[in-house]
Amino acid sequence: MENINWSELSFGYMKTDYNVRCYYRDGKWGELEVSSSELINLHMASTCLHYGQESFEGLKVFKGKDGKARVFRMDENAKRMQSSCRGIMMPELPVEKFEEAVRKVVKLNERFIPPYESGASLYVRPLLIGLGAQVGVRPATEYLFIVFVTPVGPYFKDGFKPTPVVILRGYDRAAPLGTGTYKVGGNYAASLAAGEKAHELGYSAVLYLDAKEKKYVDECGPANFFGIKDNKYITPQSTSILPSITNKSLMQLAEDMGMTVERRQIPEDELATFEEAAECGTAAVVTPIERIDDIDENKSYVFSKDGKPGPVCEKLYHQLRAIQYGDVPDQYGWVT
Ligand code: COI
Repeated sequence: MENINWSELSFGYMKTDYNVRCYYRDGKWGELEVSSSELINLHMASTCLHYGQESFEGLKVFKGKDGKARVFRMDENAKRMQSSCRGIMMPELPVEKFEEAVRKVVKLNERFIPPYESGASLYVRPLLIGLGAQVGVRPATEYLFIVFVTPVGPYFKDGFKPTPVVILRGYDRAAPLGTGTYKVGGNYAASLAAGEKAHELGYSAVLYLDAKEKKYVDECGPANFFGIKDNKYITPQSTSILPSITNKSLMQLAEDMGMTVERRQIPEDELATFEEAAECGTAAVVTPIERIDDIDENKSYVFSKDGKPGPVCEKLYHQLRAIQYGDVPDQYGWVT
């Protein structure tokens, strides 16, 4: 195998040996198939290409000190994909089939699981797309589920270091009753222009405000947002954010550390009262936020003055990583 510099990996695509596929035809899901091709054969009139019938997931596999590979909460990803399927009229893939595909693709690409010391992981990317010729706006009759893997390092180039975030009032990511709670490609397409603008301005991500009133904190780039104050873990309640499995896990950890967890609307002004803030997700893990600039309103909320993560983010991050890498017993039953 090519020499991989595991500790230098970024969050990018690398070819691995195999992917796993499953077709939905004649009203039912078929058997899992193994492929070594990175390509798929698509009809040009497939609904995934025209009408965005596409959902994806992201989960990670961690190699522990004991040499064992651990998949984190794949049942949750399977269920979230089912929810996305219901949201955009695609047939739900059974949870067992999803899990079987993940197990299979991970085993087949075992040599790509980064070693324990590297701090990297194997990213698993399942996707489900509508196939078949259609020009009317209606759901496809055939679908393809694929799972591929790729070894990855940190999503943000500096890893676990506070990063600057920006509010851009000229952009929305998802409508209040739209597809924001589903993990569908369209939400990410809708975030590209704002994301590029943020990068040009020197920020790593956009903190969206709710699309209706532009008053409450919503999704944070490709991740969820949380803030810390007075021993409380506070994360937005919204109809337009993705239910992050990492956020759900952190809420549990925060509660078990004796914190109060609040899931509610967060008015932008309240940011000024937070001791710490962070974004969280499978890719972002816990990424502390250095400051949030609301550039159109000329406001700035600063959470880290010394370039270091706050103590609560630090504790949550290390506790989550310890469970994922198997450094501490998995008392929650989160790893497979
Ligand atoms: C993830 O956290 O797994 C994501 O899907 C976010 C992004 C890489 C699209």
